[in-house]
Formats: sequence, C-alpha cells, structure tokens
Amino acid sequence: MTVFEFIKGDISEVKADVIVNAANKTLLGGGGVDGAIHRRAGPGLLAECMSLGGCAAGLAKITGGHRLPAKFVIHTVGPVWNGGNKDEAGLLTACYRNSLVIAKERGLRSIAFPAISTGVYRFPRELAMPIAINTTMSFVKSNPSAFDKIIFVLFSDEDLENYKAYFSKIG
Ligand code: APR
Repeated sequence: MTVFEFIKGDISEVKADVIVNAANKTLLGGGGVDGAIHRRAGPGLLAECMSLGGCAAGLAKITGGHRLPAKFVIHTVGPVWNGGNKDEAGLLTACYRNSLVIAKERGLRSIAFPAISTGVYRFPRELAMPIAINTTMSFVKSNPSAFDKIIFVLFSDEDLENYKAYFSKIG
C-alpha cells in the first residue's frame, strides 16, 4: 500500500530515499528548489552533476544526496510554460513518470516531489497539480508494490490545500 503525503516546507530538508530536483538543462544549479538542494547538498553535488552532461526537458537523472538528509536526488527538467501548445503538459507528465521509473529501478521506497515547473518556469499551478497527482497515482496503480511513500512538498499554504483537496476528491 503506497501512502501519499502532502507537506509544506523546504524539500532539501526532507528525509526520503530520494528527493526530486526541479532542475534546468545544464544540471549546474539555479534558484528555487535547485538552489536550496545544491546549497544544502554542498559542492559534491555540483561536482557529480558536472559529470552528467546535462538533461533534456522531460527527462531525469539520479545522483547521490551528498550532505542532504535524502540518500539520492533525481534531477528532472520541467518544461518552461509557453502558452500550453508546446507539449508542456506532456513534458511535465514525463518528468513525474521518468522520476518514478528511476526510483523504482533503484529500489527506492520513498520519493519526494516539488511542484515542478510552477516557479521560474511559470507553469500554471492549477494545471500542474492534476498532472502531478494523476501521473503518480496511475504509476502506483500499475506498480502497487514499488513505493511505500510518495510525498508532495509544497511551498505555500494555498498549494498545500489545493493538492490535498484534489487528492481527497480523486484519491
Ligand atoms: N522546497 C520546495 N518547493 C520550493 C522550494 C523549496 N526549497 N523553493 C521553491 N519551491 C517551489 C516554488 O514555489 C514552485 O512552486 O517549487 C516550485 C518550483 O519552482 P522552481 O524552483 O522555480 O522550479 P521551476 O519552476 O521548475 O523552474 C526551474 O528554476 O531554479 C531554477 O535552476 C532552476 O532553471 C531552473 C528553474
């Protein structure tokens, strides 16, 4: 049975097997989630990321957690919102699914997601939230024994309430 958890806070402080980073294509750090994770992980994370050769939008790559409480980090690159006609929804779906595939392959039992693409990348929150929840729920339905816990780490009370309300409606 996979437990879905919704919390508000800084994802870099979450002690899960793996936390997901809202990265950019260079994988060399940035602001927001990316900045918080790199700050807390220390320089070893950047050094490891430099060996990855970047990452395309929709894809994901895994590194160690370094000084983070989490054991691993999955870096995924969300789509930049461009009005909605450039397959932004498909790419965001792929971010969640590809992160889950990697975590499952590694036998990681708990995974924490931020609200990918809804900050600097301007993906409308009300459109991103159903993608995040529907994609993870359908993955769990097809892989019921893959995860013990899936955590959504929101950064505002509004996002937290919206995620909880949506999940209880369809969960
Ligand atoms: N923990 C959890 N959530 C956070 C944190 C944090 N420490 N910091 C910000 N957020 C929230 C934001 O409020 C937003 O809802 O995470 C969501 C994603 O915001 P961003 O971090 O800006 O990520 P994104 O929109 O995917 O943009 C990625 O921003 O930081 C750069 O290098 C990154 O270029 C990339 C781009």
